[in-house]
Amino acid sequence: MKIVCLGGGPSGLYLAISMKLRDPSHSITVYERNRPGDTFGWGVVFSDETMQNLKKNDPVSANIMINELVHWDMIDCHAHGEVERSAGHGFIGIGRKRMLQILHGRAMELGVNLEFEQEFNVDDLDSRFADADLIVAADGLNSKIRNANLDVFDCDIDLRPNKFVWLGTHQSFREAFTFIFEKTEYGWIWVHAYQFDANTSTFIVECQPDVYEALGFERMNHEESAETCRRIFEKYLGGHKLLTNSAHIRGSAWISFPRVLCRNWVKDDRIVLIGDAAHTAHFAIGSGTKLGLEDAISLARHLDSDLALPQALRAYQAEREIEALKLQSAARNAMVWFENAPRYVNAFDTRQLNYSMLTRSQRVSHENLRLRDREWLETYEKHLAGLALGKPVEQPVPPMFLPFRLRGMALKNRVVVSPMSMYSAVAGLPSDWHLVHYGALAQGGAGLVCTEMTNVSPGARITTGCAGIWNDEQEAAWKRIVDFTHASTGAKICLQIGHAGPKGATQKPWESSVSDAPLTQDGWEVIGPSAHPFAPHSRQPRAMTRDDMIRVTAEHVAAVERADRAGFDMVELHAAHGYLLSAFITPVLNKRKDDYGGSLANRLRFPLEVFTAMRAAWPAQKPMSVRISACDWLGENGVTPEQAVEIARAFKAAGVDIIDVSAGQTSTEAKPVYGRMFQTPFADAVRNDAGIATMAVGNIFEPDHVNSIIAAGRADLCCLARPHLLDPNWTLRAAAQLQYHGEGVSCPLQYQAGFEQLERNLARAADMAINA
Ligand SMILES: Cc1cc2nc3c(=O)[nH]c(=O)nc-3n(C[C@H](O)[C@H](O)[C@H](O)COP(=O)(O)OP(=O)(O)OC[C@H]3O[C@@H](n4cnc5c(N)ncnc54)[C@H](O)[C@@H]3O)c2cc1C
Ligand SMILES: Cc1cc2nc3c(=O)[nH]c(=O)nc-3n(C[C@H](O)[C@H](O)[C@H](O)COP(=O)(O)O)c2cc1C
Repeated sequence: MKIVCLGGGPSGLYLAISMKLRDPSHSITVYERNRPGDTFGWGVVFSDETMQNLKKNDPVSANIMINELVHWDMIDCHAHGEVERSAGHGFIGIGRKRMLQILHGRAMELGVNLEFEQEFNVDDLDSRFADADLIVAADGLNSKIRNANLDVFDCDIDLRPNKFVWLGTHQSFREAFTFIFEKTEYGWIWVHAYQFDANTSTFIVECQPDVYEALGFERMNHEESAETCRRIFEKYLGGHKLLTNSAHIRGSAWISFPRVLCRNWVKDDRIVLIGDAAHTAHFAIGSGTKLGLEDAISLARHLDSDLALPQALRAYQAEREIEALKLQSAARNAMVWFENAPRYVNAFDTRQLNYSMLTRSQRVSHENLRLRDREWLETYEKHLAGLALGKPVEQPVPPMFLPFRLRGMALKNRVVVSPMSMYSAVAGLPSDWHLVHYGALAQGGAGLVCTEMTNVSPGARITTGCAGIWNDEQEAAWKRIVDFTHASTGAKICLQIGHAGPKGATQKPWESSVSDAPLTQDGWEVIGPSAHPFAPHSRQPRAMTRDDMIRVTAEHVAAVERADRAGFDMVELHAAHGYLLSAFITPVLNKRKDDYGGSLANRLRFPLEVFTAMRAAWPAQKPMSVRISACDWLGENGVTPEQAVEIARAFKAAGVDIIDVSAGQTSTEAKPVYGRMFQTPFADAVRNDAGIATMAVGNIFEPDHVNSIIAAGRADLCCLARPHLLDPNWTLRAAAQLQYHGEGVSCPLQYQAGFEQLERNLARAADMAINA
């Protein structure tokens, strides 16, 4: 086969090598614009696993690299004049230039034709390279081949806001992969530094665009930029300079990261994308070169199989795009963390900053950190416990079992039973079902139990089975549940109060296969901000008048008064998921032209009026929460996470104590991105940008998730909904698993023997897993 590799970076060279290894008769030429010794960038980072993959593919080049690799085990985080060091992270690195030299040598040894100082253009595909059986586009981040065919490759390029420059230095960072956060008069700027050979280190400097602007980097040449960075980070450089080698970048040496995602990697059954041309992974998780090299192995393997060329190319894409997406998703979390780094440096002490940074991709969890460096993690657990308890502690405490106080309400721990409608009330009246259900949940160890959305009037219900709090009988039924909770468990109990608005008068979820299907008989008039149905099949709501607003506000106030008489410790106002107040907040359902529609401030007006009236009627020592949909999952057409911070600020100013940060369910057009803890980044942004306590919710299901979220300061409490349905004792089980016996959880005395047995069994199972 005649193969042309366009681009002599790691991906193109390694593909050429991998093909020659499989069949020396292939004719392979690599075209590269640079000379052999030229290169941009400094060092690259690998994992042991990548090296094993390379070794399996070509032991010769892998062994040369392995002999020259630099290893580090530690990560240092410098901020606020302190340094936090943790161990067990295990990285390996090599200079990019040296790696390319090794690949050049190996390629030539195997008979690959290397053509340096050869610029190629898109026109060459059908002229100069017309006789090639296969053209491999390995031309990197700014691939000409891909950019000329963005439609064909179904390419999405997302240019990220931060600016960064890839510098080098002879200062040694031999001991640890080093992050440095430094405050300038214009804001924060930070460094990712690691050593990659005996006397050279990569030194990537990054900042937000306003700081880049203010420091004047845009107008500087490469040397001036390096010198300015040297001055900023002088105290970490031991008298060494910062070096630049990005001559290929015109103007300022700084760039913005383009996240490239191609949904098709093959054109005309003869042109195939590989490496950065097909996908990019942000340097915050340092996997770009790994992806390119592993693409090359996969492509060579498929081309060497029994498949015909078109099928082989497609099989290669099918295999690699999953891997690329996985890494991109982890890289995305890490990238977004750095895009918001000033939020964390400002909000956290150096220890929490370090923890938050180490867990930034959400792939490294609390227990992963324990495996890496137990002593450091336990010191951090004690530090957090000392802050939560207001006194030094001797023993580490799992973060989920730390107490938390909101006004006069003291919670034993950070686990919350998330509100879940049971659709099992009759005429809004909670029944024995509810007593047993909430009673079991309160016994199960969570610090706080939230009730289902409980409605302020018959017309405020979602379904005929929804619970209410508009009459004395309902108040008494709730009081029975609250009294049981207080008398027999360590939990506090919160009433979620709501109005279904345009999503009212629907069938129970198990009555129809269509979600939010309207009642076919005995329905009622539904109201909303506008006469705009939630879904095409939904009832059209009547747009609320000012009188409606006054009436609905009064109903919420009456509900709060009843909640207080029933003894609830807290109330939560439901302003999420497309129900009445959420429908006011989201532009998707609020089309009003008066003072209650249009701008975000106007759309918030009615929810804030309701909240303010409720707050005035609710005792000052008792806390209040508001649940919001922090994102409509509709991009700029709906509520965005940035607006969620504004929404939280407005409720904070009105006296909210904690924001329960949910998302979505406001539009049938939404495109949510699910995953573990998928809504937690919204709780994080609200907490640390608006400076208010948050509850995170959404696919949080393991004790490890809760510990990581609390320890990283992403939220103050974690709501778990579905995990509690089949396991009301979720928190007790977590305590048994973590062998925790402190004040942060109380097991009913009647159940103590069960706790002890579970603890023993789980410990035995964990031992067996370790020794297996
Ligand atoms: C700041 C920064 C830090 C990074 N850190 C790491 C890290 O620590 N670890 C890691 O694994 N990855 C890292 N990466 C990513 C890594 O550099 C890339 O993912 C990797 O180089 C991709 O390899 P590639 O061969 O696909 O593309 P490239 O390495 O970009 O190679 C493409 C080649 O094609 C040549 N070329 C392009 N167009 C033409 C043309 N028209 N004519 C002739 N030649 C052409 C270029 O000169 C280049 O040599 C980092 C990237 C950046 C920007
Ligand atoms: C059966 C069920 C009923 C729910 N009812 C409510 C509700 O009444 N009020 C509310 O705010 N959220 C409600 N939710 C949403 C949950 O509180 C939670 O936000 C969501 O299920 C995601 O959390 P999870 O992944 O832990 O289940 C409900 C969820 C379920 C599964």
